[in-house]
Amino acid sequence: MEEKYKKTVASDTASLTVRGNTFELPIYGGSTGPDVIDIRTLYRDTGMFTFDPGFTSTASCESAITYIDGDKGELLYRGYPIDQLAEKSDFLEVAYLLLNGELPNKQQDEEFKHAITYHTMVHEQLSKFFGGFRRDAHPMAIMCGVVGAMSAFYHDSTDINDPEQRKVASNRLIAKIPTIAAMTYKYSIGQPFVYPRNDLNYAENFLYMTFGVPSCEEYKVNPILANAMDKIFILHADHEQNASTSTVRLAGSSGANPFACIAAGIASLWGPAHGGANEACLKMLSEIGTVDRIPEYIDKAKDKNDPFRLMGFGHRVYKNFDPRAKVLQQAANEVLGELGINDPLLEVAKELERIALEDPYFIEKKLYPNVDFYSGIILKAMGFPTEMFTVLFALARTVGWVSQWSEMIEDPTQKIGRPRQLFIGESERQYVSIDKR
Ligand code: SDX
Repeated sequence: MEEKYKKTVASDTASLTVRGNTFELPIYGGSTGPDVIDIRTLYRDTGMFTFDPGFTSTASCESAITYIDGDKGELLYRGYPIDQLAEKSDFLEVAYLLLNGELPNKQQDEEFKHAITYHTMVHEQLSKFFGGFRRDAHPMAIMCGVVGAMSAFYHDSTDINDPEQRKVASNRLIAKIPTIAAMTYKYSIGQPFVYPRNDLNYAENFLYMTFGVPSCEEYKVNPILANAMDKIFILHADHEQNASTSTVRLAGSSGANPFACIAAGIASLWGPAHGGANEACLKMLSEIGTVDRIPEYIDKAKDKNDPFRLMGFGHRVYKNFDPRAKVLQQAANEVLGELGINDPLLEVAKELERIALEDPYFIEKKLYPNVDFYSGIILKAMGFPTEMFTVLFALARTVGWVSQWSEMIEDPTQKIGRPRQLFIGESERQYVSIDKR
C-alpha cells in the first residue's frame, strides 16, 4: 500500500466493560468514512470473540482503492466519482487508476494499453480445456474452471512474493479475461474461437471476439455498443469489500496463486444474491412480463413467508440509490433508443422501479435499484444471452479483484484470514460401540 495512506489513531478510545472488567480499545480514523474500533486484543483480554455473521459491522482490512458512502449513494475509485469516470474515462485508464492509485499520464496510458493489448491471446493449449465441458454448461462454470486452470499454464507468474511476477500475473489476468469470456460464449453456441485484434480497444476487441465470425464475414464493431460496453465495464470494475472481493482476499491471504484466487472470486460472484442478480433480474422481469402484473410481484417481495425478492433491488451498503444504477438507467435509454429497440421489459423495469420507490415497504427498508437492475436490459439489447451477464460482471470485476489482491499482498501487516465461531454443538462425549447404540 502507498506509504502516503495511513490510518490515524484517535485521541479517544472505546471503553468496553465485560463482566466487571473495563477495556480501552483504540479507535482509528481513515481519510473518510466510519472510524474503526481495534478489537484485536479482545480475545486475549476477555476470552471472548465478537459475533458478526455476514460481517455487516466489520472492517476486514485497510484499503485505499474504492470508497462507498451507502447513505449518500456515493462511489469513488481512488477518490474519483464513478459518474465522472463513466462519462470521461475508459476502462483501461480506470484499470490503471485502480491498480496504481493515480490516473496515468499519456505515456503511462499508452504503455499500459500496449502491455494489455499484446497479452490478450491465450496459450493455444488453453482452448483444449473447453472441450471437456458439456456444450450447454453454464458459462460461469466454464469461467471458474478455465481461469483456475491458468495456474497450470503460467508458472512463471505464480510467485506472489515477487513484485515483477505479481505485475505479470495481474496484466495477464486483465488482458486474457475478455478472450476467455468470449471463448466461453463461442463454445456455448458452437462457433469457432476468434483471436483478438490489436487494432481494437479493450471493449471493441471483446465485442469482436464475441460476435465476430471473421472466417465468414467482416464484423464491424458498432461504436454505440462499444461505448456502452466500456461504460458497463467501468461501472463493474470494483466495489470495496463485497462478497467476491472478500473471497479473493481470503484465498490470497493463504498465499494461493493469483489465478486460483480470481477463480474463487468468480465462483462467489456467480451467486444470485451477488453478481448473478443481473441474470436473475432479467428472468424476473420476463416472468412479470407486463406492467399490470407488477403489483402481484411487489406483494410477493413484501411477503415474509415468500422467499421471492425483487432481484436488482436492495444492497448491503447502499441505503440510497446505487450511483451505478443511475448511469445504467441512462445508458439503457441511450442504447435501446439508438438501436431502435423497443423492449417491453424496459417499460416493466421503469414501472417496477416507480411503484417500488413509492411503496412504504421499500422506502422504510431503503431498497433501491442496484447495479444489476438495468444492466441486464442493456446486455440483452446488445445481443448477449442471459447466461453471459455474470460473465461480463466477472470480466470487469477482475480489475478490482486484482487491485485488491495486490493491495493485500503488499500490506506488511497482512496475515492469513482465520475467523472463529460461536460453537453451539455437542460438548465432549465418549464413543459408544455400535452394539450399544
Ligand atoms: C451486488 O456488496 C456489493 O457491493 C455487491 C455489488 C458489487 O458491486 O460487488 O454491489 C453487486 O451484488 C448487488 C446486489 C445484487 N443482488 C440482488 O439484487 C439480489 C436482491 N437483493 C437482496 O438479495 C438483498 O438486497 C442483498 C443481498 C443485496 C442485500 O441483502 P442483506 O444486506 O442481507 O439484507 P438487507 O439489509 O438489504 O435487507 C433488509 C431488509 C430485509 O428485510 P427484514 O429482514 O429487515 O425484514 O430488506 C429486505 C430483507 O428481507 N430485502 C428485500 C430485498 N432486499 C432486501 N425485500 C424484497 N426484495 C429485495 N430485493
